[in-house]
Amino acid sequence: MSTLIRGGTVVNADSTFRADVYCEGGNIKAIGENLDAPIDARVVDAGGGYVMPGGIDPHTHMELPFMGTVASEDFFTGTAAGMAGGNTMIIDFVIPNPEQGLIDAYQQWMQKAGKAAGDYSFHVAVTWWSDQVEKEMGILTRENGVNSFKHFMAYKNAIMVEDDVLMKSFRRCLELGAVPTVHAENGEVVYLMQKALLEAGITGPEGHPLSRPAEVEGEAANRAIAIAGMVGAPLYIVHVSCKDSLDAIARARSSGQRVYGEVLAQHLAVDDSVYRNKEWAQAAGHVMSPPFRPKHHQDALWAGLMNGTAQTTATDHCCFCEPQKAAGRDDFTKIPNGTAGVEDRMAVLWSEGVRKGRLTPQEFVAVTSANCAQIFNIYPRRGRVAVGSDAALVVWDPAGTRTISAKTHHQNVDFNVFEGMEVTGTCAVTVSDGKVVWENGQLDVEQGVGKYIPRPTFPVLYDAVQKRNEANRPRAVEREPSRHVTP
Ligand code: URP
Ligand code: ZN
Ligand code: ZN
Repeated sequence: MSTLIRGGTVVNADSTFRADVYCEGGNIKAIGENLDAPIDARVVDAGGGYVMPGGIDPHTHMELPFMGTVASEDFFTGTAAGMAGGNTMIIDFVIPNPEQGLIDAYQQWMQKAGKAAGDYSFHVAVTWWSDQVEKEMGILTRENGVNSFKHFMAYKNAIMVEDDVLMKSFRRCLELGAVPTVHAENGEVVYLMQKALLEAGITGPEGHPLSRPAEVEGEAANRAIAIAGMVGAPLYIVHVSCKDSLDAIARARSSGQRVYGEVLAQHLAVDDSVYRNKEWAQAAGHVMSPPFRPKHHQDALWAGLMNGTAQTTATDHCCFCEPQKAAGRDDFTKIPNGTAGVEDRMAVLWSEGVRKGRLTPQEFVAVTSANCAQIFNIYPRRGRVAVGSDAALVVWDPAGTRTISAKTHHQNVDFNVFEGMEVTGTCAVTVSDGKVVWENGQLDVEQGVGKYIPRPTFPVLYDAVQKRNEANRPRAVEREPSRHVTP
């Protein structure tokens, strides 16, 4: 099967040019003007739109067992919805239960992902520490194409890890050439604040943001950065939602530390007023961690994306329907945390970013695919329209419009935090593995054809860092033997 995309403008993170793109056997075979295609090729008319690398959402949770329930979106519905929005790949999270082996959990997630329609990869969470965990981190990097490990600094009594685990795991990541990532919120403080709020009679969803103020995130981000700095490991901070943690990243980067920041489309577009909605289900539908923030934090997030403090955009797509959220009707701490977004990230970023003059189309490509592909080491296989790259592409209609709604979205959830938002800039066509999977508002997807994308580690950088660490290793001071003899 071959596909020719004709009449578009190719946009990469570093270049823009008019060209046709010819795909064959899952790869881009030719890029140039007036390309010919075999008689049986599928020809897509780009209609003057932008031909860009398919979006990569580096943070999703399909079918995640969490807070006593399971996220409603599975790998088939989730990757399909993602492709309707211009994403051709997700990086989901394997999250072992404490005491569960990492390989065991990885295999469970691989099994669940077997039904994916689009491509996927996995970060693996370190939720506890033992010799086995340390050993299995090595196996995952060598044999399973895992090059990033996640650490939750929140969710006490569940998947949270303490600083000693952060330090041991960051060290191990460095040794293996893998990227440690963190959910930065101080889980101990959140726990105490939740208790205090409940005791004060605040049981509704408005208690959620009160229990997780920006300082809670800023403190954890600073702490994780300090630990990574002492170890000499890089660090990727997921779902940065406030100025406090962005400032921490900016400080670290300006002092030469390799720290990356990810921001969510949701935090860029929605503020904390949603928690004061009088309808419980509306407020609860927005419960996610970190929570939505007062408006000035949104401005800081946009600035961070524009000035390079944050490099990637994601959604933390983690869907719970209203009956699931209702578990926390009388206690906000029991509302399953999570919101949807995989289908809408690209449109929200274009509409709020490019249309509003915050991002150029090339910067849009950088923050929706290319930077992620570089940070997680799959560039230029992904994140670039180039001969030899995977045929994972999007034709973007910069003038297309739609109104986002749970009634019309493809995500398997009854709520959308962008409900009613009119976006300009829509996905006209998605090509995955060389095939057209979305065109004219129709999905043409197949369960189980999504591929696992292995991600190699970074041996060169990490060898160098380890040599530097060895050179700076603390050494005992050599002293003359003492001349005083105790009688
Ligand atoms: O509220 C959220 N973000 N739910 C998913 C788990 C996580 O913290 O990433
Ligand atoms: Zn998180
Ligand atoms: Zn998450």
